[in-house]
Amino acid sequence: MSGNWKMNHTHFEAIQTVQKLVLRLTPRELDLVEVSVHPPFTDLRSVQTVIDADDIPMAVGAQDTYWEDQGPFTGAVSPLMLAKLTVSYVIVGHSERRRLFGETDETVALKLAAVRRHAMTPILCVGETLEEREAGGAVSKVGAQLDAALGALEPGAVGSLVVAYEPIWAIGTGRNASPGDAQEMCAAVRSRLATLAGVEAARSARVQYGGSVTPGNAASLMAEPDVDGTLVGGASLDADSFAAIVQAGAREG
Ligand code: PGA
Repeated sequence: MSGNWKMNHTHFEAIQTVQKLVLRLTPRELDLVEVSVHPPFTDLRSVQTVIDADDIPMAVGAQDTYWEDQGPFTGAVSPLMLAKLTVSYVIVGHSERRRLFGETDETVALKLAAVRRHAMTPILCVGETLEEREAGGAVSKVGAQLDAALGALEPGAVGSLVVAYEPIWAIGTGRNASPGDAQEMCAAVRSRLATLAGVEAARSARVQYGGSVTPGNAASLMAEPDVDGTLVGGASLDADSFAAIVQAGAREG
């Protein structure tokens, strides 16, 4: 279960949120569910320090990366820098990056390779627009995004991937995909992974659903067989609501 904080929380608020979150979860819940938090870059060092100092069983995640390790790339943050902060998971190709910051399938593929080069796990985001869904093109859009991102990856790498199916129309809108639709699309993701890298790899890759996940709908989404986890935006900012989502994962997982 991953909390994508987007451009929210100063480093002070980030520390408080992690501390509150861990107080609301039992060791057993944290054992059953792998939790990652993805604060903004400026919060990473603080969050990493709290997690290390208090021995909190949660993973530090990033929301993006550049693909080069260093160089004249003003404003960019490198995968080497993230790896040094013990970042485990890096979101790659979020639809907000694609839509607002010019991310393309090519840059997504470069970033995936960079994350893997530093032994971190990418959370690759894919998903269709409302128009694409209404035109019956959701599966083919997501399939094309997977092909473009993963085509150059060695098949062995696919098994350790996380793919987040995030329909764009569900992100931040309060309108989540129904559990049945989420299941259908997560199964389609898995079947494309099988075509790309084999059935074994597709089985061990983890597929998340993301888009308006809340404490109220997390359990029904997690009950679906191909939904292995959730990528949570707005509802992960508050420790109480993110804890409730993690608990739904512990029950349904
Ligand atoms: P949301 O965002 O939960 O606020 O809809 C999800 C995401 O963009 O990862």
